[in-house]
Amino acid sequence: MDHAYAKVFRGTAFTSRSPQEVSVWEDCLFCLDEEGLIRRILKPQDPDYAKVLESYSGTDSFLALAEGQYFLPGFIDLHIHAPQWAQAGTAMDIPLHDWLDTYTFPLESKFSDLAFARKVYENLVVTLLANGTTTGLYFATIHKEASYLLAQICAEKGQRGLVGKVVMDDREQNPAYYRDESTEAALADTESFIQLVQKLSKTTKQGVYPVVTPRFIPSCTDAALKGLGELAKKYDTYIQSHCSESDWEHNYVHERMHNSDTSALHEKGLLSDKSVMAHAVFLSDEDADLFAETGTAIAHCPISNVFFSNGVLPAARFTALGIDIGLGTDISGGFSPSLFDNIRQAVISSRMLEEGVDPSLPAAERGLPHSRISANEAFYYATAGGGQSLSLPIGRLQENYVWDVQVIDVNTPTAKLPLFDDGISKEDLLHKILYLSRPENIREVWVQGVCVHKRT
Ligand code: GUN
Ligand code: FE
Repeated sequence: MDHAYAKVFRGTAFTSRSPQEVSVWEDCLFCLDEEGLIRRILKPQDPDYAKVLESYSGTDSFLALAEGQYFLPGFIDLHIHAPQWAQAGTAMDIPLHDWLDTYTFPLESKFSDLAFARKVYENLVVTLLANGTTTGLYFATIHKEASYLLAQICAEKGQRGLVGKVVMDDREQNPAYYRDESTEAALADTESFIQLVQKLSKTTKQGVYPVVTPRFIPSCTDAALKGLGELAKKYDTYIQSHCSESDWEHNYVHERMHNSDTSALHEKGLLSDKSVMAHAVFLSDEDADLFAETGTAIAHCPISNVFFSNGVLPAARFTALGIDIGLGTDISGGFSPSLFDNIRQAVISSRMLEEGVDPSLPAAERGLPHSRISANEAFYYATAGGGQSLSLPIGRLQENYVWDVQVIDVNTPTAKLPLFDDGISKEDLLHKILYLSRPENIREVWVQGVCVHKRT
């Protein structure tokens, strides 16, 4: 048999079939083409299975998982501030507005220094890959050069990076030491950033993408928001921002625009099926309908929401309305670079929303019924939901999807999962992996058919 495939992987894989259901591919052969796409999945009972196995095993193009190892789709971090990695784990006890002024803007302003930016960004991208994150939708800073450097580092390290140069042009809302020089400069820098990254993408296998990125409405003038909507349309780019995150931010927009965040962003041409809005905790029913109609996705950042959002995203309700949802770390509003940690928090927060949290209230009045999400749903958000949000063939292990994969080893000596029952169902096993695995359990990570992380 001639070698029709660039690579063949043998093993058991978990992937979402729907938000609620997981599929298990037991001991299958995953056959990739040169582009890193899954061309064919062969089950053991398939007539070609033995032939392909015989022809590839023992060659350089073949990789078989050992006992206790499993394929999971690589995670998609749908909202992360790359510069804030430098302050991750600090200042978790101050509200959003003060946190921006006293910690975050001073830190982000330092990314005019490219040597500093390189140090932080390289460390972050390597850390994310080691945590199973194969795609990242990043906010960088207002600096065009450093933002481009982040895209270059993603390109070099083999991560699929979607990167935004942040726009903050409002002279009243932003400090003089950290804002765009003018609205015109913000738009011109964004346009040349888009062109540079689109060119860079052609040199990569996995793709890197420019993202139009108004930080949030309070940072931006109406003229900048409108201009950014036009640029996104002209270059058919992704768009990201923060939307209805907290009481303070949500109320600020109502006062200034006499409108919700969602309607205001829509008026400026910033909602489309390539838009991803972080948080969206305080959407009205009309706002939620606009998300669904325009195909705008929500980046759900459950750890960050505990600290900054004054509420819990009603994720189950929004999923039922047909809104795309993915998971984000929101480094450093959220402290953890791991989407495993965010999967866990998404489930926990949804349970607290459903049950309520004030024990002085009677049980029937305490919570919001039907709010819980399952581990399967949180897994879906971290993988297939993120892929769907970006309209890319990622986040699922099935034919015509990209081979973006993490190999989980449940027997890693320093982080062995408690498995004492040989008869455990595959779904229970996945739940153990989701709730209990540590970064040490991630043995290898692949993006677009290329190995980008290997634990030694
Ligand atoms: N709103 C505007 N900027 C930010 C930020 O950096 N983090 C969070 N969580 N919310 C924001
Ligand atoms: Fe954020």
